[in-house]
Amino acid sequence: MVVVTSPIVTARSLPYMSYTVVCLAGDGIGPEVMREAIRALRALPLDIDIEECAFGGPGIREFGDPLPPATLTACKQADAVLLAAVGSPEYERAAVRPEQGLLRIRKELGVFANLRPVRGDGVDMMIVRELSGGLYYGRKGRLTDGMAFDICEYHPWQIERIARRAFDLARGRRKQLTLADKHGVLETSTLWREVVDEVATDYPDVRSDAMLVDSAAMQLVRDPGRFDVLLTENTFGDILSDVAAVTTGGVGLAPSASLSESGPGIFEPIHGSAPDIAGRGIANPAAMLRSAVLMLEHGLGLPEEARLLDGVVDEALRSTLTVDLAGTATTVEFGDAVVGLLASRAGVGG
Ligand code: IPM
Ligand code: MG
Repeated sequence: MVVVTSPIVTARSLPYMSYTVVCLAGDGIGPEVMREAIRALRALPLDIDIEECAFGGPGIREFGDPLPPATLTACKQADAVLLAAVGSPEYERAAVRPEQGLLRIRKELGVFANLRPVRGDGVDMMIVRELSGGLYYGRKGRLTDGMAFDICEYHPWQIERIARRAFDLARGRRKQLTLADKHGVLETSTLWREVVDEVATDYPDVRSDAMLVDSAAMQLVRDPGRFDVLLTENTFGDILSDVAAVTTGGVGLAPSASLSESGPGIFEPIHGSAPDIAGRGIANPAAMLRSAVLMLEHGLGLPEEARLLDGVVDEALRSTLTVDLAGTATTVEFGDAVVGLLASRAGVGG
C-alpha cells in the first residue's frame, strides 16, 4: 500500500487519479476517427472514464438539438471534451444545423483560446485563433429588403485575454509573435493592433509584428518556417489554419485545443466531417489522435502520457500512411499501428 505523506501532491502523483472525458463523435468521418482515439486512450496506462454523447447530426436526429441538454451537462461536468467533426450536407439548408451545436458548446464552455499547432519539415508554429468573438458570434440576420448581415464585433477585453495567452505561449517558444489582421480596412483590426501593441509592452522579450491577413496567407504557403506564434481573430484563424495545415501534410494531421480561463477544454481536429469520404474507412485519424495528445497535456495535465502518445502517432506516420498521404492504410489500420506501438511500450512513460 502506498501512503502519501508528502504535503505536496500533484494530480499526476496520485496513482488512483481518474478522469472523465466526454467524446462527441458528431458527423461524417467523426465516428470513424473518434473510434481510433478512444482505442488509443484505452490503451494508455490511465484510468479514463469515457462517455460518448450525441452531438451534431446525431443530436438533431435523436433529440432535435445538435447540442442536447444531457450532452451539455455531461460536457460541463467532464475534465475534458474530445470532439471529432460536425457538418453534414443533409442539413445544409435546414434551420437547425450541426454547426450550431459546435458554436454553442464553445460558448457554453467559455473556450476562447484555440491553439492550432502546425509542425512539419522546418515548420513549427502555433496558430492562436480567438474563438469567442468576431463574425461567428456578432449580431446577424436578414432585413426586409432581402439583405443579410453578420457583424464582426470585438471588445478590447476579448482581444487582451487572447493576446496575453499568445504572448505567454511565445515566451515558451521562439519568442516571436505575428498578428494577422486587415488593418486599414476593418475597424476591429485597428482595435486588435491597439490592444496587442499595448499588451506587447508587458512582453519586451518577445518580438512582435503585424501582417495583413492576405499577405499572411501567402507567406504561410511560401515560407511557413518564418512563423512562431501567429495570433488572429476567429474567421481569419479558421481560414489561415487550414492554409497552414496543407503546408505540412494536410488537415488530416492538424489538431487543436480550445481552452477557457478554467474548466474543461475542447480538443478537436481542425478538419471537418469530410462527407465525401465518410463511411469508407479511409479517413486519417492522426489529427484526432493528436487532439487527444493535446487533451492529455492541456486538458488533463498529463504531459508524460501526452508525449508517449505523440511519439507513437509520429512513429505510426512513418510506417502506416492513409490515402490522404498517398498511402493505402485504412483508418482502422492506422489505429492498429498506434495501439500496437502503445502495447509494445507499456510501462514506458506510463
Ligand atoms: C473549425 C471548423 C468550424 C469553424 C466549423 C465546423 C463551424 O471549420 O473548427 O475550423 O469554422 O470554427
Ligand atoms: Mg475550419
